[in-house]
Amino acid sequence: MENKQRENWGSRIGFLMAAAGSAVGLGNIWRFPYMAGENGGSAFILIYLAFALIIGISIMISEFAVGRRTELSAVGAYQSINRNWTFAGVLGVLSAFFIMGFYPVVGGWALAYILKSVTGLLSDPAAIGDAFGAFITNPIEPLIWMLVFLAMNIAIVAKGIAGGIEKAGKVLMPTLFVLLILIAARSVTLPGAGAGLDFLFKPDFSKVTGATYLAALGQAFFSLSLGMGCMITYGSYLGKSENLPSNALIVTVMDTSVALLAGIAIFPALFAFGMEPAVGAGLVFVVVPQIFAAMGGIGALFSVIFFLALAVAALTSSVSLLEVVTAYLIDQRGWERKKSVYTAGGIMVVTGILSSLSLGLMSGFTLFGVGIFDFFDILTDKIFLAIGGLLLAVFVGWFMDKKDLEDEITNGGTVKFGLFNVWYNLVKYVIPVAIAIVAVMGIMSIEQTGLMLFGLAVIVVLAIFSKKL
Ligand code: PHE
Repeated sequence: MENKQRENWGSRIGFLMAAAGSAVGLGNIWRFPYMAGENGGSAFILIYLAFALIIGISIMISEFAVGRRTELSAVGAYQSINRNWTFAGVLGVLSAFFIMGFYPVVGGWALAYILKSVTGLLSDPAAIGDAFGAFITNPIEPLIWMLVFLAMNIAIVAKGIAGGIEKAGKVLMPTLFVLLILIAARSVTLPGAGAGLDFLFKPDFSKVTGATYLAALGQAFFSLSLGMGCMITYGSYLGKSENLPSNALIVTVMDTSVALLAGIAIFPALFAFGMEPAVGAGLVFVVVPQIFAAMGGIGALFSVIFFLALAVAALTSSVSLLEVVTAYLIDQRGWERKKSVYTAGGIMVVTGILSSLSLGLMSGFTLFGVGIFDFFDILTDKIFLAIGGLLLAVFVGWFMDKKDLEDEITNGGTVKFGLFNVWYNLVKYVIPVAIAIVAVMGIMSIEQTGLMLFGLAVIVVLAIFSKKL
């Protein structure tokens, strides 16, 4: 590799915004509420919070440390420390491709809803649910929006780290936050909102199974952009004087607060409207427009801003996914940035089209019993990210030098990290065991066993062929 100075973040706040931008996305606002709805609410939320705050922060510190130490993206980072571990990085790149198999579809929905907010969607609140179903199963319309969304990703990532990704995040993340607070305030003051708050905050552990734990763990990883090398890659662009644990703490707290805010925005309103919590992937696209429709004229304006902010939150996340693949091609294959972006983006166009069509026209076509959209979603969320996190923890705990880690995390002894040993023991012993237990329990109690076994087989195959990669 040439000896060029590595691209760097423009500023501290720029990095934080980009990392938080990667974390905060559809995972918080679209996925978290419907997962909570399908998994019984508060108990799921508590488990998710515990996983995010204990396992999530520890893994994030680890990813930052590995990335900054090696100054390489996922694959190179593993490989430069231990060649046998190349596959763990490759699994990350594959995860990025798979998440990008469905993420732009939902990103496209958000874009479409910006326009729909002012073209009559809100005029008939009772029809909002049906309108969503009709929209996502339409063969053309969501496809076009998905392509627009992907094109935006390609344009941003082609411009490089500090130029594109960083600027987009800085402006639009705060907007989203303010907006969610406004919606939440409206939602909790609707008559009948109390039932929603109970659903969110009164835990009922009788509904908890192994699948609940796996869903909560997958959600924590997905939402924090962990387990697939994204934060390794972002960490590789991070300056040597940045405090890794405090950055990880800030990103995690921001991410979980946005998820909780989204819950508070949605569930009180959902119960106030007399709807069912377990409606699945359409939740935000159905409940939030109804809240706005009930506000009269000003609702349309709020709706436009909300879906705009959602689309941008999605964009700052999906660019980080595209960046993982791009950085791999640049660092490992020595390609130019533009060529890397266009190639990766081109493949994503194909998977995105298949995934979008799988909700309508191609709904009869299934892999391991699920459509293509769900195939990408379930494989990454339920298997790849959790196993990716487990591999990272084992790697950091057992295959890296403790002194090196301490040196990296304390910036050569210049910043204090009093919890270093706690972190180290968590990563080395507790987290691998915890993830393994959750994975086994979850995989046993999940319906799509064939798909789970397929996912595990992919990882085993990668591991076997790792040295050739
Ligand atoms: N964390 C993002 C979200 O919540 C999704 C994501 C996952 C981004 C993994 C990068 C890596 O929407």
